[in-house]
Amino acid sequence: MHKQRVLSGMRPTGELHLGHYHGVLKNWLKLQHEYECTFLVVDWHALTTHYKDSHTLSDNVMDYIVTWLAVGINPSLANIAIQSQIHEHAVLHLLLSMITPNSWLERVPTYKEQQQKLKDFDLGTYGFLGYPLLQAADILMYKGQLVPVGEDQVPHVEFAREVARRFNHIYGRDLGFVEKAHAAIDKLGKKQAKLYNEYCREYQENGIQEALEKGQALIAAAENLSLSDCERLLGYLEGSGKIILPEPEALLTKSAKMPGLDGQKMSNSYHNIISLRDEPNAVAEKVRTMPTDPARVRRTDPGTPEKCPVWEFHKTYSDEAAQQWVHKGCTSAGIGCIDCKKPIIESINQELAPIQEKIREYEENPSLVRNIVQEGTEKAREIAQDTLEEVQQAIGLD
Ligand code: TRP
Ligand code: SF4
Repeated sequence: MHKQRVLSGMRPTGELHLGHYHGVLKNWLKLQHEYECTFLVVDWHALTTHYKDSHTLSDNVMDYIVTWLAVGINPSLANIAIQSQIHEHAVLHLLLSMITPNSWLERVPTYKEQQQKLKDFDLGTYGFLGYPLLQAADILMYKGQLVPVGEDQVPHVEFAREVARRFNHIYGRDLGFVEKAHAAIDKLGKKQAKLYNEYCREYQENGIQEALEKGQALIAAAENLSLSDCERLLGYLEGSGKIILPEPEALLTKSAKMPGLDGQKMSNSYHNIISLRDEPNAVAEKVRTMPTDPARVRRTDPGTPEKCPVWEFHKTYSDEAAQQWVHKGCTSAGIGCIDCKKPIIESINQELAPIQEKIREYEENPSLVRNIVQEGTEKAREIAQDTLEEVQQAIGLD
């Protein structure tokens, strides 16, 4: 049995900041030990919105990769790859576009939302409408069963599931499907084959959900089946065709709430970030000038931590004792805001120092970084080529 695949991507727009680190990257660090991970810098996705800033894109791509490495994404555990270097993504996107109804794209919630929010960007483009389909192609390409995303991206993963389902439905019954399925059943061995056939019957004739699950478990545990036999048997079990593009699932990151300096979500477009590259002085300055509970006009006015963005930082950075110190000190006017911010500045700088050290090391060695990306991209491309071949065969473009 092979490890489940995880696929995720990040748009190289703006600087990587603490929100990325606590909300996404720390999660990737864990996942790389548990799954076969591919992490993509999705530069084409950046172009769907930032097409006028295209000349800073390639610096950003390098910056992202260096920073990923610096925080501990380990190229011997995870593939690091660049979307635009794997042209198969564009082909899959195109082929999927043939079967994707316009209405599906128009009703993706981020479509209208982002158009509203990013008024300066002229997002009435074909490319921007297709954004979720490009993402679906990323995900389906690697048969990424699990897609770690924040809540805002769940509709995109759901969209990818619908596209996969439609594709399998239209193209899944290739010539000789039944014969090939029977041959694969034989490979299970007599006893397992008999069980599998029973599960098929129970599920398809009587709709017994448990039989479906048992059948799926049986296939997952079978040792001598190729990946494509597994997919064929999963499809056969459900009474449909071969599952060429498995449906992915969102792996919801319970977002470590990392608000920006102003209490809104930390984001480059709100200009409220602490960059992973900010020097200690810059961090100190940014935190010192953070707004606090507006009720604390004078040092002697008591405050309410829940109304203060600094408190949110304490929730990430401070232990129980320090949090109590803040709470008590703030509500009784026992401490001033400057006292309260000091440990935050220290914690952030402590956290960033080793990362920045590593960033410097990688930046001094650009050929190492290039090799890492090249290798990761090649490995990703191999998977992409296999998938695309299957897809083209299923459509009849072979
Ligand atoms: N749409 C994602 C975002 O804005 C980025 C993305 C592109 C992605 N392709 C992906 C995320 C594939 C997960 C998987 O954050
Ligand atoms: Fe915010 Fe701390 Fe000042 Fe209270 S003491 S208002 S929590 S910065």
